[in-house]
Amino acid sequence: MRIDKFLAQMGVGTRTEVKALLKKGRVLHNGVKIKSAKTQIDSEHDVVEVDGQFIAYEPFVYLMMNKPQNFISATVDDQHQTVIDLIEDYQHLDLFPVGRLDKDTEGLLLITNDGQFNHELMSPNKHVSKTYWVKAKYALKASDPKRFEEGITLKEGQLQPAHLEILDEPTTAFVTIQEGKYHQVKRMFHAIDNDVVALKRMSIGALTLDSSLQPGAYRPLTEDELKLLNYR
Ligand code: URA
Repeated sequence: MRIDKFLAQMGVGTRTEVKALLKKGRVLHNGVKIKSAKTQIDSEHDVVEVDGQFIAYEPFVYLMMNKPQNFISATVDDQHQTVIDLIEDYQHLDLFPVGRLDKDTEGLLLITNDGQFNHELMSPNKHVSKTYWVKAKYALKASDPKRFEEGITLKEGQLQPAHLEILDEPTTAFVTIQEGKYHQVKRMFHAIDNDVVALKRMSIGALTLDSSLQPGAYRPLTEDELKLLNYR
């Protein structure tokens, strides 16, 4: 694998940042200073250092993406572009999205190649909360939070209690749910005679979307963020 690709994948920086580090002579490959981004390395066996720090090979990748609208949360789709099509550097690693956001939903989407990570965050009995910012068609009513708290009933049965915080602009709210049923937030709003006009996921458990990520942008999770998700 190329050294610039390896360093970007290990979270050292973007491909451009990594190329700058190489140019400045800050990268050693098996003890030898290398400047060419094209240098081929054996990622599992070679020793790579940046500023004297060893960069260990980590086969698992954990990315945070600000999912844009009009992309499907899947690995392949014959009609639409998928969120995986947006990922440049990690294509060979069998990445997949952790759970699904609807095509028209934006916001925090985790992408990984670690099935256990997916299970820990998405399994309904793990009760990891997900918070969405919602723009509704009609102003929310003072009685709506109580209905969410009591458990909205959908065709599959009664949902777990959910939290609805109506914001100053009363067509907007934060809603926190524990499960991840198909179109869950949209169907909950239908149940209170309202409609979702826009939906953006803001957090998963204690992890919040990095507000500096533009729609479509992504970056590796930090060790501290993995800890926030109780995955370290
Ligand atoms: N609920 C929805 O209705 N859609 C999403 O994308 C996520 C939660």
